[in-house]
Amino acid sequence: MIQEAKLSYQCFDDSFLTACSDFGFAFPFFFLPAYAESMKLFMDTANVAHVAEVAAWGVLDGVTTNPSLVAKEGKDFRQTVLAMCKLVPCVSAQVTATDVEGMKAQAKEYARWHRNVVVKVPMTTDGLQVLAWCKRKGIRTNTTLVFSAPQAILAAKAGASIISPFIGRLDDAGEDGMALIGEIMAIWPHYGFTTEVLVASVRHPRHVVDAAAIGAHICTIPYDVFQKLPKHPLTDTGLKKFLDDWATVQKRNQPMKSRRLIAGK
Ligand code: E4P
Repeated sequence: MIQEAKLSYQCFDDSFLTACSDFGFAFPFFFLPAYAESMKLFMDTANVAHVAEVAAWGVLDGVTTNPSLVAKEGKDFRQTVLAMCKLVPCVSAQVTATDVEGMKAQAKEYARWHRNVVVKVPMTTDGLQVLAWCKRKGIRTNTTLVFSAPQAILAAKAGASIISPFIGRLDDAGEDGMALIGEIMAIWPHYGFTTEVLVASVRHPRHVVDAAAIGAHICTIPYDVFQKLPKHPLTDTGLKKFLDDWATVQKRNQPMKSRRLIAGK
C-alpha cells in the first residue's frame, strides 16, 4: 500500500507514509489529487464523417464545432450536432446571439437537442452572465475565445464547465499560446475550480504533446493534425521489414512438394 501511495504521489516521503502505516491508519488518499486517466482528445470539426473515422480508433472523447467550421461544411447545424452526439459524449455547439437573453434562449434550445451537447458561449461580460445562468440550470458550457489568464479565471468563477484558450491564434499574433496554458494550469491547483482547460486552435502534433506535458484536461485537434498523430516513418519501415521476414519464414516452411507445384516442376 505504501508502495502504491509512493508511486501515485511521489512528493510524500517514506517517513510520512511509514508513520501512517505504523500508527495503524490508512494513507489519507482523499488528499490525493484526482488524476484523469489521460488528456481527453476532441476533434475540432463540423464534419461528421471525420468524427466517425477517428471515433472508430477508440481515442475520441468529444467534438468542438464553431460557426466557421459549420459554414465550411454547409450542412444543417442541428442535424450535424445530433449525428455527432451519437458518436461521442461531448459536442460543443456555439451560440450565435451576443446578448444575454438571446444566448440564454439558444443555450436552452441546444441543451434540449441532446444530453451530450455542451453550449459554447463567447468570453464577453454578457457571456459570463450566461455561463452563471447555465450553471444554475444544469447546462454544460464551454467558454470560447479565451486569450488571457484573467479571462480564464472569470469564466471559471462564473461556472464554465470548460474554457477554451486559443493557442494557435496567439502564436499567429506573435505571442506564446502554450505559455498561457502553462499559466492557467499553474493557477488551477490553488483553488477548487472544476472547470476543464481545453487547448484550442491547435496547429500541429507538437501542440498536442506540449498540452499533455503541461497536464491540460482536453485538447481539441483538427482532422489533418489527427491524421499525423499515429504516423511515424520508422513504424512503416519497421512493419514492412517484419512482414518481408515473415514471408521468408512462410516460404522456407512450405513442404517441398507444394514448393515444386508452385514452381511448376
Ligand atoms: C475551438 O473550439 C475552436 O473551434 C478552434 O480551436 C478554433 O481554432 P482556429 O484558430 O484554427 O480557428
